[in-house]
Amino acid sequence: MIDVSVNIQTVLAGVSIGLVVLYVIKRMRYRLPPGPWCLPLVGNYSVYSSFEIHRKMRELSKKYGPVISLSVGTQTWIILNNIDVVLEAMVKKKADFAGRPKFASGDLFSEGGKDIALSTYSPTWKFHRKIAGKALRHYLQGDLLEHMIQDNMNKFLDKMAQEKDPFCAKDYINLMIFHQLYTICFGEKRAVDDPEVKAYLQLDEELNDGLGTGVLEDVFPYFKDIYPTAKWKKLKSNVNESLTLLRTKFKQHVDTLEPGINRDFTDSLLIARQEAENEGDEAALEKLDDAHLIQTISDIFFAGVDTTRMTMDWFVYFMTKHPEIQSKCQEEIDRVVGSGIPSMKNRNNFDFLEACLFETMRLANVTGLGVPHMTICDSQVGGYDIPKGTTVMINHWALHHDPKYWKDHESFDPNRYLDENGKLKPAKPESWLPFSAGRRVCLGETVAKPEMLLMCANLLKRFEIRLPDGIKANPEYRMMGFGVELPSEYKIVVTERE
Ligand code: HEM
Repeated sequence: MIDVSVNIQTVLAGVSIGLVVLYVIKRMRYRLPPGPWCLPLVGNYSVYSSFEIHRKMRELSKKYGPVISLSVGTQTWIILNNIDVVLEAMVKKKADFAGRPKFASGDLFSEGGKDIALSTYSPTWKFHRKIAGKALRHYLQGDLLEHMIQDNMNKFLDKMAQEKDPFCAKDYINLMIFHQLYTICFGEKRAVDDPEVKAYLQLDEELNDGLGTGVLEDVFPYFKDIYPTAKWKKLKSNVNESLTLLRTKFKQHVDTLEPGINRDFTDSLLIARQEAENEGDEAALEKLDDAHLIQTISDIFFAGVDTTRMTMDWFVYFMTKHPEIQSKCQEEIDRVVGSGIPSMKNRNNFDFLEACLFETMRLANVTGLGVPHMTICDSQVGGYDIPKGTTVMINHWALHHDPKYWKDHESFDPNRYLDENGKLKPAKPESWLPFSAGRRVCLGETVAKPEMLLMCANLLKRFEIRLPDGIKANPEYRMMGFGVELPSEYKIVVTERE
């Protein structure tokens, strides 16, 4: 009779030896970056499962240098921890690092990579990024953006002015940003307490909660087919709900599009499709199917809202923590705007305010380790080999706290960005990189910067913001997930300025 247990043991031993041999061959073939020791298969669990992965990586980089290798289950991640290696990989190496790895939750969100942010480097990605970039630039023409922001903000500032008790700034900020992105994507201006916009916000919060601590299926993808976790099932239902909402809005736009009228971002995409149709450009039309266009809208909506609302929450937090800096911003706004309303034409004169926004973005780690990159060919960084198909991440937090570039890196100091005349220096400090760099640089940077600046100006022009009497700024931050930091819950009081 065949002894089954011996056979299983033999197979397991064979597989283990095979894995070790493969590992040794790989290590001999490539000069791979160093990293902490770990158990096979489990990898560096205490590091990759930690909310504070960015801080742990910075500690590890003191021992291993700026390029660190981390074992995550059966995968290897490379984390880049200073500006030199980030620019070498993302800019000098052109497209080598511009791919995106496939992971289960990413595939779920993007319907298998049909969006821009999560799809890998390919002609289809390039094509959609170009079309989306053109559609966004539409908002930077004339006074479209500023009118949208002013209309939208006034509704919420009026509501804030009515608050009698201390309240959470973020409740208003979240709604403001959601309404703004809603108007960019779908054209309509909605009432302050519109249930549809609230439904998007609720969904976004649930998606963030679901992804905060990560899903097991991203490390061990086969779980989702064999025994999906409750978290995975919830994520799946949230993603379906979100896509249903987006598909409904998209269909309404297809049904009501009129020649020569561009109402919003969705119309811009439909117009691009119509142009391809008129030109008989079959190759373009093939890429411009409904699923890809809906995914592009989803990217603009979700990539735009979280980053912007979290940055604005930090900005208000810093303004309450540093009342003297807030007053200096208000002096500048009053001097530049007088009795008028802050507008795009004032933008170049808000030096101090913009410096405060830049400093907020340095300290607010709203993208955590950014969106993961992947090498599309064998490449090198920092003197190490990075094989094709390796996941690579940028530790933005480490760049923004590098003592080589930032004196007193924990403190909020807008003067870092100003010259001796109080004007913004022509170039920002080298290790400032909230929007990343290279082929995958944030697509929304040109909209996000003026949008946030105008919001800050409108907010501080109207209100003096402070903490309730007797309350000190809470120096703690809270982790949203995977390196993303938010200020701990705080309440504010606002007083209308004369
Ligand atoms: C505070 C504001 C924002 C910050 C800090 C931010 C930061 C980032 C970062 C770090 C990335 C990843 C880049 C990389 O892969 O290396 C990214 C990607 C992206 N962002 Fe933003 N972002 C902001 C606002 C926005 C807004 C308002 C939009 C849209 C209107 C937007 C759209 C996108 C898109 C589409 C991508 C994917 C680009 C690609 O993969 O090719 N972002 N952003």
